[in-house]
Amino acid sequence: MNKFDDFKNLLKEDRSIRRFDSSRRVSTDILEKLVELTRYCSSGRNLQPLRYRCVCSEEECREVFPLLAWAGYLTDWPGPEESERPVAYLIQCLDLSLAKDCLCDDGLQLQAITLGARALELGCCILKAFSPQKVADALGIDITKYMPRYVVAVGYPVEKVEIEEMLSDDYKYYRTADHVHHVPKRALSELLIH
Ligand SMILES: Cc1cc2nc3c(=O)[nH]c(=O)nc-3n(C[C@H](O)[C@H](O)[C@H](O)COP(=O)(O)O)c2cc1C
Repeated sequence: MNKFDDFKNLLKEDRSIRRFDSSRRVSTDILEKLVELTRYCSSGRNLQPLRYRCVCSEEECREVFPLLAWAGYLTDWPGPEESERPVAYLIQCLDLSLAKDCLCDDGLQLQAITLGARALELGCCILKAFSPQKVADALGIDITKYMPRYVVAVGYPVEKVEIEEMLSDDYKYYRTADHVHHVPKRALSELLIH
């Protein structure tokens, strides 16, 4: 296979994961390896204003988990049960001494992290549904210096996620009785403006 196909396959495998094997821990070394990938991402003004707080101890994971909102479209699912919770988190923060915004650096870096994680057989979920103040308080982050922007949940996946062709503009993900998570994606023809 050529590099393009390898890359496309990695991207297709890089789905949001919300159920993990909580008995398999992830070390700080692994988290730092993922953060290192962000060094090679493009950066508006080349300012590189994003910082990461690694969370991998059981104690801190227990603090962070209840502050996150999972899978808003799965209204009858309260989020992963104890044995399927993430075993680590990366808290992406903006260094406010450098900038008040980060253009699209945040998204570029999040994608690098999730792709890198997938290449290590890990799964991730990018989360925005949380209170930055509460996450900062839980982890002792000084929010006047480092503003939490995103949380990336990390762990070894125990769920199957499948990409589906999107039909009749129905973009909401769903789960079937066999617990498979389905993610509709728009067709290429819809993405192209003629
Ligand atoms: C900017 C952004 C914010 C997100 N926030 C949340 C969130 O707070 N909670 C959650 O469960 N998933 C969150 N997700 C995951 C999306 O629901 C997921 O990307 C989408 O359903 C498509 O699935 P896929 O990532 O497997 O393609 C977020 C994703 C992105 C890119």
